[in-house]
Amino acid sequence: MAKKIIISPSILSADFAKLGEEVQAIDKAGCDWIHVDVMDGHFVPNITIGPAIVKALRPHSDKIFDVHLMISPVDQYIDAFADAGADIISFHPEAGAHPHRTVQHIKSLGKKAGIVLNPATSLECLKYLIDDIDLILVMSVNPGFGGQKFIHSQLDKIRAIRAIIDASGRDIRLEVDGGIDQNTAPLAIDAGADTLVAGTATFAGGPEHYAENIKGLRG
Ligand code: DX5
Ligand code: ZN
Repeated sequence: MAKKIIISPSILSADFAKLGEEVQAIDKAGCDWIHVDVMDGHFVPNITIGPAIVKALRPHSDKIFDVHLMISPVDQYIDAFADAGADIISFHPEAGAHPHRTVQHIKSLGKKAGIVLNPATSLECLKYLIDDIDLILVMSVNPGFGGQKFIHSQLDKIRAIRAIIDASGRDIRLEVDGGIDQNTAPLAIDAGADTLVAGTATFAGGPEHYAENIKGLRG
């Protein structure tokens, strides 16, 4: 049986002046997870959300907080995001010298661990992490901003990772992030993705459209 597609709206495209209400609105509109994009102005050229905001948002939804760290160095902030209420903590292997240790650290806090691959990053590093990780996130844009165009070359990478996950027999989500809309979602799903991040496509048109926007991504 095909796995249920998980929709994880990125709150990067929400109205930052009313983030709590926005999180409640996407929760009510039927999203599965809530994707939180953390950027440091150093690893990526934009600054967004820190652990204090994650903590402030936590009471606004019981859904899984899918926290995507685009920060370097990453290790010293893992505890703060875990304490703030993150359920899944994903990081880029380039963001620290010891990705395996970072995965162990996240798991030791009782959280799920994800590895994020930039468009030009090879999937080679997965080989020695596959036994420990819970999620692989393929970036289909270069990280830093919402509203960018889907990079089609990543579909081959998604297909290759789907084969790696299936061969491992482990329960690992394969998530895609960047430029996901009603046209690109089916391409990512066909290639083997089971979890979709969508910022622009979720928040388009304001709260009265969130439910139909989310439904449109499920195909
Ligand atoms: C990009 C972020 C994405 C982004 C997606 O660095 O990781 O989560 O917000 O935005 P859209 O869906 O607008 O491409
Ligand atoms: Zn993201």
